Amino acid sequence: MGGKVLTMMHSYLSARPAWAEVNLDHIAHNVRQFRQQIGPMTQIMAVVKADGYGHGAAKVAETALQSGASSLAVAFVEEAIDLRLSGLDAPILLLGYTDPAQFPILAHYKLTPTIFGLDAANEFSALAVEHDIVLPHHLKVDTGMGRIGLLPDEAVEVAARIIRLPGLLIEGIFTHLAAAEESDETYTKEQLLLFNRIIEACGEKGINFPLVHAANSAAAINHPFARYNLIRLGLAMYGCYPAQDLQGKGLELLPALTFKSKVILVKKVPVGSAISYGCTFRTEKETLIATIPVGYADGYSRLLSNKGFVLIRGRRAPVVGTVCMDQLMIDVSEIPGVRLNDEVVLYGKQGEERVKIEEAADQIGTINYELLCALDKRVPRYYFQEGKLSSVQDFIKDRIVILDR
Ligand SMILES: Cc1ncc(COP(=O)(O)O)c(C=O)c1O
Repeated sequence: MGGKVLTMMHSYLSARPAWAEVNLDHIAHNVRQFRQQIGPMTQIMAVVKADGYGHGAAKVAETALQSGASSLAVAFVEEAIDLRLSGLDAPILLLGYTDPAQFPILAHYKLTPTIFGLDAANEFSALAVEHDIVLPHHLKVDTGMGRIGLLPDEAVEVAARIIRLPGLLIEGIFTHLAAAEESDETYTKEQLLLFNRIIEACGEKGINFPLVHAANSAAAINHPFARYNLIRLGLAMYGCYPAQDLQGKGLELLPALTFKSKVILVKKVPVGSAISYGCTFRTEKETLIATIPVGYADGYSRLLSNKGFVLIRGRRAPVVGTVCMDQLMIDVSEIPGVRLNDEVVLYGKQGEERVKIEEAADQIGTINYELLCALDKRVPRYYFQEGKLSSVQDFIKDRIVILDR
């Protein structure tokens, strides 16, 4: 009896009527598209920081590695540990800053830091010698992003000093492009010219790098000369384009994520009714309002209040009133037959209609990257493979301790 109650409780809890579907076949397809286009001499590093741009890092990483990627990248140590704890043993590059104090973690989990300063290199070297290990790392040069990296006029000198430090092994050198998605190639070409000069000057000093990389998704699509022998593939792997005019450049990317919910209430309200906080929307006629249990705490931006559209019964319905923390309202007056439990698509396709995440991003002055990363962990991720549900990642359900009585 207790077991039955608990099973019911479990299935009830896992059925939050707000979820994201992640199509892993689409991730695999997108990686394979690049695999074919870039040729066998160039590796793919799957960028799965920010929990795989909101898709779930471990599942995406696993799929990417099975589809032609050979390594992974995240921003910092904790994200990498999460991947190791999920059983992934591929090389992981930490793209951002790593404090040398985290050395024992790097050594234990076999993580590759990015180094962009002599002081940190000296500290890493001393620790590596003390622990009697060799620490592989990548050098980062700042050719015009203005973020992290050695400046061009110090890069060669610092690389020459780092290569002499015991306990360190330079496995790669990289830079990051600031404007690779723009149709004007001037800035990207300037950055790459600087990058090439640094690599050549290093070569003249006998410093060679097994891996050389500069390309993010936009550059991998737009600038074949930026691919060197590795591309760092983020957004495009998830099936989104960094800029809309990058579509149709020989790749057909398939978006992997659909954000869904269900109608939890439909009601007819009279003319002049206020909807949601601040009464920012008032009905101009008798209106059919549906309530959807998704809010800004789930990652559906409050800036989409009175702006966004969702899909229901294959048609577009406007978001009316202010998006709340856990709920939002839509006007379904023009859509016949809307009922309790009808499926709603917040981003993605339903029937012939689509609400692209780019559309929502444009409406509120941001980019697809930000909306994907904003998807909160309280939205369960349902993974699909070969058309079937293959697994579920549910932050809440996964942490529930069920006491059998
Ligand atoms: C250093 C670095 N490389 C690669 C990427 C992947 O970029 P994208 O998602 O545009 O492919 C990022 C993402 O921000 C990054 O910071």
